[in-house]
Amino acid sequence: MFLITGSNGQLAKEFQKFFRSKKIKFAAPSETQLDITDFKKTQDVVSRFKPAVIFNCAAYNFVDDAEGKSSEAFRVNSSAVENLALVCRLQKILLVHYSTDYVFDGKKGDFYNENDRPHPINKYGLSKLQGELAVRRHLNKFLIFRLSWVFGGGKQNFLYKVRQWARKDAILKINADEVSVPTYTKDIVDVTMRALKENLRGLYHLTNNGYASRYEWAKCFLKKSGFQNAVIPVPSDYFPTKAKRPLVSFMSNAKISKKLGIVIPSWEDAVDRFIKDLRAL
Ligand SMILES: NC(=O)c1ccc[n+]([C@@H]2O[C@H](COP(=O)([O-])OP(=O)(O)OC[C@H]3O[C@@H](n4cnc5c(N)ncnc54)[C@H](OP(=O)(O)O)[C@@H]3O)[C@@H](O)[C@H]2O)c1
Repeated sequence: MFLITGSNGQLAKEFQKFFRSKKIKFAAPSETQLDITDFKKTQDVVSRFKPAVIFNCAAYNFVDDAEGKSSEAFRVNSSAVENLALVCRLQKILLVHYSTDYVFDGKKGDFYNENDRPHPINKYGLSKLQGELAVRRHLNKFLIFRLSWVFGGGKQNFLYKVRQWARKDAILKINADEVSVPTYTKDIVDVTMRALKENLRGLYHLTNNGYASRYEWAKCFLKKSGFQNAVIPVPSDYFPTKAKRPLVSFMSNAKISKKLGIVIPSWEDAVDRFIKDLRAL
């Protein structure tokens, strides 16, 4: 039995779709039933389902709001993750946890690998890093996957916003100096399940192949989707934000790819499949 937290999020939904299609038993309680910041409730829910694995897809992902409401970000991304790790230790459950490229400051100027020292430059990144450290502190065996620029079904992602903007405005201005790797929820689920099958443990960077600026990503998505909008590259300070973001935070997926003997599809291929999946809805 698998247990998924944060059931309404984009990655959690992809897991549910996958398990349903494979007829694999899982539980995905709603946030009201399983609020991971409530230690007692979490312990009770986990005891009831007795999962072999917990996929922690719950997170506070509002990067700008996290600057002002940092206590909420730290509650969900750090303290609750520590609680989950404790529950997993007590009940001998494997914790699969997801983190982010925003644990890095973006100054390396090359792909980040798992040996690079994190140095977050915003509160969201720091809260996620503290979550990682809690998992490592309390568990000997765990899986942590650092992801970047996650896209999938639902409204809480960049491509959804781009589509909304394109329906409204003929000309879009998109930040061209933030660079990372757009990563598709379907590929995250696929690689996670392969890693479980191969009994991998530890910390891995899990991204699609390649890298892109937000401008390139938006342009590619709009063109492949048949939109005719003009897309204009602008520097990141054109749209001031509350949180600083790492400018070049792309991560290498070489470690996980080598361990599993796979080539993870490029982000462009992932965008193609995402558009096909959207059309099939
Ligand atoms: N999205 C990205 O670009 C990105 C990039 C790098 C890493 N990641 C990481 O990847 C993982 C999956 O992200 P995602 O994009 O699927 O996130 P998402 O769509 O924002 O989903 C997160 C879910 O967690 C829920 N949640 C928040 N607090 C909770 C709590 N206390 N108890 C239970 N559930 C709670 C949220 O509910 P509400 O909707 O009510 O808030 C939301 O449904 C996360 O660890 C995230 O940090 C994401």
